[in-house]
Amino acid sequence: MITTKKRGGLANVVAGDSNICLCGATDESLLIRGYSIEDLAQSATFEEVVFLLLAGRLPKRGELFEGSYEVDELFLKVPQNASPMDFLRTAVSLAGTLWADEPNPALRLITSLPTILLSWMKQKKLPLKRGSIAKNFLELLHEKEATAKQIRALDISLILYSEHEFNASTFVVRTIASTMSDYYSAICGGIGALAGPLHGGANERAYDLIHQFKSADEAEKKILEMLSQKIRIMGFGHRVYTTKDPRSDIIKNIAQSLASAASDSYLFEVANRIEEVMWHEKMLFPNLDFYSALVYHWLDIPKSLFTPLFVLSRLSGWSAHFIEQQSNNKLIRPLSNYTGPKHQPWIPLEER
Ligand code: CMC
Repeated sequence: MITTKKRGGLANVVAGDSNICLCGATDESLLIRGYSIEDLAQSATFEEVVFLLLAGRLPKRGELFEGSYEVDELFLKVPQNASPMDFLRTAVSLAGTLWADEPNPALRLITSLPTILLSWMKQKKLPLKRGSIAKNFLELLHEKEATAKQIRALDISLILYSEHEFNASTFVVRTIASTMSDYYSAICGGIGALAGPLHGGANERAYDLIHQFKSADEAEKKILEMLSQKIRIMGFGHRVYTTKDPRSDIIKNIAQSLASAASDSYLFEVANRIEEVMWHEKMLFPNLDFYSALVYHWLDIPKSLFTPLFVLSRLSGWSAHFIEQQSNNKLIRPLSNYTGPKHQPWIPLEER
């Protein structure tokens, strides 16, 4: 029975079998289909990781997706004042009505949603290009060629965000899948869960945090104050890892390499000092969301797209979990520990 604070939020509960991802609680490692996150970040492309997640094996030469779709005019009609996260949730729901006969909805969504999002933002139908999602995203966003370094930085961040075991949004996706509902409904649920500041929404808040300081010393002073007021520092801590997030060093190195060419490179020093203070004071470490905020900033990506990029990547992990759940399904239906009143006598309306 889940009664103690320690077990609240399903902490430490093994909620099912999966062969997709091992998020190591003991050795702080991360394996996707058995491949280490370090190897994938070093050698894979995001498209290869998508294939790995969906098919369960690495693609052979010529196997990567080469299809093409058109952006439907209807996506552009979603109100412009919606946030990009609200747009994505709405767009996936809309896709479920437009693509009812699509035989491979996961692949179609993963390859076309980035362009659909940018088409909506720019209010014009952009070309759905083949090849690297990272390259197309940067070039459609900025309307100019991106450098190989910029493309690889975004590509690696997409790999790092792609999959992470039974996190909150993935568990939502699996729960919806377990009712044998449809793919689009499950992904809409995942987006809703990811939007929250304790999950995917943390990268935007981490940017706000870092960006408010003019120097590392100022950051140290303010973070100490915030901790004394018990304010949660966004981009730190993790439910599963206890001493480090294996993705953080990878994204931190990318942030450092982009900082050298940036006019506001002091932000890296600010972030580094926050990391030192958090470890010294609370033994809390940065998670993936902390330094990815700086990477996206130095790729000239607007803050409102930080969490949407997490969605565009995590779509691949969610899809793998949707497929796995439905291929060997058991309805997810846990019990609650009832803490309400028992046996209340009924009081007629006129006597209340
Ligand atoms: N800043 C300050 N204190 C913290 C933080 C933080 N970021 N994270 C945990 N703590 C403290 C918390 O106040 C609590 O202290 P006490 O026991 O004195 O009340 C203790 O650590 C345990 O915290 P918890 O919230 O019970 O632990 P959890 O396992 O539920 O939290 C977490 C995991 C990720 C929600 C939490 O660390 C957090 O809120 N971090 C900030 C948000 C964030 O960065 N989220 C991104 C997570 S990783 C990427 C993703 O999956 O989206």
